Amino acid sequence: MEKINISINENILSEIYIKDDIRYELQDLFESNKNYFLITNTKVAKLYPQIVYKFNSDKVIIIKDGEKYKNFKTFNQIINSLLDKKIERKDCIVALGGGVVGDLAGYAASSILRGVELIQVPTTLLAMCDSSIGGKTGYNTKFGKNLVGSFYPASKIIIDPQFLQTLNQYEYKCGMGEIVKYALIEKSCLSKTDYNLLNILETLQTQDVKKEMQNIISICAHLKANVVNLDIKEGGLRKVLNFGHTFAHPIETLTNYKKISHGQAVAYGIKIASKLGLILGKIDKDYFDEIINLIDKFELTQKDYHFDKQKFIKLMKQDKKVKNQKINLLIPSARQTVELIENTEEPSLEASLP
Ligand SMILES: NC(=O)c1ccc[n+]([C@@H]2O[C@H](COP(=O)([O-])OP(=O)(O)OC[C@H]3O[C@@H](n4cnc5c(N)ncnc54)[C@H](O)[C@@H]3O)[C@@H](O)[C@H]2O)c1
Repeated sequence: MEKINISINENILSEIYIKDDIRYELQDLFESNKNYFLITNTKVAKLYPQIVYKFNSDKVIIIKDGEKYKNFKTFNQIINSLLDKKIERKDCIVALGGGVVGDLAGYAASSILRGVELIQVPTTLLAMCDSSIGGKTGYNTKFGKNLVGSFYPASKIIIDPQFLQTLNQYEYKCGMGEIVKYALIEKSCLSKTDYNLLNILETLQTQDVKKEMQNIISICAHLKANVVNLDIKEGGLRKVLNFGHTFAHPIETLTNYKKISHGQAVAYGIKIASKLGLILGKIDKDYFDEIINLIDKFELTQKDYHFDKQKFIKLMKQDKKVKNQKINLLIPSARQTVELIENTEEPSLEASLP
């Protein structure tokens, strides 16, 4: 079993465990004096009843499945359910599911009774590699994605790659979007270990990716843990994790969160950011082509979108990372490296949009 720690000033904040079938050992981690409340969704509950049944039935909360339910209404439903079930400060919330369940359950854990313990059990590739690690929680509003939330790291993140057996190809690709992101930002994550994820992804035959997935998840978890260790509240370094995201959020909003998944939107966002990098002369055509080929190799952006550019830029300006209406963007600046640019001129920005 692999174990990775996230710490601040030597204090361990989160422990990440990665092991096939570790889900069957989940209850071994539980303490006898606590109640454990499971939050999951209808789909995961149906796929993994053996996990749900291990929880006391009056400590299980099942929410509707889908990004469109990552809103205040569902958050409120969770909070009311937890209070109705008499949750106490000493208790713990277990989030079993993808990024939607993880973000909502995480925010509920951070706010109920001013904070109870949280354990994340990610079941999608995106959640294993990214969303369950680092403590970002929250929900969407009509003004945009994740505009309400908190930083609230889980005490434990239990990653069982065997959950991926039931994940469909579409969701698998969503996770691949974030994995490609890690490959392209690896050097900016300042890890002491050189994993060369970009090389691994480029040389791997697409049919062999699943066999290598435990190793790939572990590399992504290490990279994210490293960045979070150095910058828990996104004061500086952690911003590199947003590569592709400033473009991805307007894409998701303009498609009403329905026609496109988050990971795919990130892959489209990476393509746009790379085009901007090329237009601004930060990267050469060879590296630009390498990035596009990698995204195309995993078939992450199959549909061609054409957006209203002014609407797109307006939405970018509403992003919570925007200060004084100036759009700050991460663009590739060298192999496996990204750079934050400020005050991007609108004509170059427009030229990079599809
Ligand atoms: N907190 C963060 O740092 C962070 C980072 C990246 C993304 N996110 C958020 O994560 C969300 C996207 O996460 P996601 O892609 O996991 O989406 P998701 O949670 O909607 O899961 C995708 C689909 O897969 C289903 N599913 C989950 N586990 C499964 C399994 N093992 N087998 C089969 N189906 C399964 C889900 O029920 C859902 O239908 C977005 O809301 C995004 O904002 C958060």
